[in-house]
Amino acid sequence: MIEIISVANQKGGVGKTTTAVNLAASLAIADKKVLLIDADPQANATSSLGFYKNDYEYNLYHVLIGSKNINDVILNTNLPTLDLIPSNIGLVGIEREFDYLEDKELILRKRIKDLNINYDYIIIDTPPTLGLITINALNASDSVIIPIQTEFFALEGLAQLMKTIKLLQHTTNPKLQIKGLLPTMYSSKNNLSKQVLADIIRHFREKLFIDKEGNFLVIPRNVRLAEAPSFGKPILLYDIKSKGAVAYEMLAKKILESAE
Ligand SMILES: Nc1ncnc2c1ncn2[C@@H]1O[C@H](COP(=O)(O)OP(=O)(O)OP(=O)(O)O)[C@@H](O)[C@H]1O
Ligand SMILES: [Mg+2]
Repeated sequence: MIEIISVANQKGGVGKTTTAVNLAASLAIADKKVLLIDADPQANATSSLGFYKNDYEYNLYHVLIGSKNINDVILNTNLPTLDLIPSNIGLVGIEREFDYLEDKELILRKRIKDLNINYDYIIIDTPPTLGLITINALNASDSVIIPIQTEFFALEGLAQLMKTIKLLQHTTNPKLQIKGLLPTMYSSKNNLSKQVLADIIRHFREKLFIDKEGNFLVIPRNVRLAEAPSFGKPILLYDIKSKGAVAYEMLAKKILESAE
C-alpha cells in the first residue's frame, strides 16, 4: 500500500528539505520504491538531488495546472528506487492561478491518483508557508512529519500549524495523521538546544519518535548533512557513517515499522 507523507512546518529553515530528501533516500535504500515530490518553489529538494533548472523542462507546476501528465515529469535519481518530481520558482504562480478553482486545495491529491508506477512511499517537501501549496500537500497525504529546529523560537508558529492540520482533519482530509515531530539540528553541547528539546518533550512527548535505545529520536546538528546537497547527493551517498546519515536511517526505520 502506498503511504504519502508530507514534511511540513511553515517556519523557514527548520530542516524540512533535509528531512524529506534523506528520509526518501533512506527508504529507497531499504528497497522501497519512493517518489519525492518537491512542492517548494525554492526547489531545494530538486537541487539537493543534483538537478538544476536546465536539467529538466517540466516540473510540478505543469502537473498542477494540468498541462503535463504527472507520469511525464518524473526524473530518475542516482538511487534506482528513488524518483523525483522537480520544482521550479514558477510554482509560486499556483497560489494566484488556482484562486478561482473550487477544489483548488485538492489538485495534488487528484494528480497523484494518475501515477502509473506503484510507489511504496511518496514524500512531499513543502515550502515555509501555510499557503495553497502546503494545503494541497497536506490534503494529498496520509500523514505529516513536522521538523522542529532545536533553537530559540522553535515552538513559534506550531500552534497555527496544529490548528491547520486539525481543520483539514475535520474537512478535506479526515485520515491525515501527525506521524511525528522531529527535533532537528540538535547539539548536545549547546545548552539552548538541550533546553528547547526539553520544552518540546514537555509539550509533545507522545508525538516524538523513539529511537532503538528508547530515547527520543533527534536529528543531530551535523555538518555532513549541510554539505551533501552541494554535491547533489543524499547523506547516505555522501557519508553513510556520519551521525546525520545514521539518524535519518533511524527515522526511515520508524516509518517502515509503523507500516507493519
Ligand atoms: N541536522 C542538520 N545539521 C546541520 N545542518 C543542517 C541540518 N539540517 C539542515 N541543515 C542545514 O540548515 C539549512 C536549512 O535546512 P533545510 O533547507 O532542510 O530547511 P527547510 O525547513 O527546508 O528550509 P525552508 O523553510 O527554506 O524550505 C540548510 O542549509 C541545511 O543544509
Ligand atoms: Mg526547504
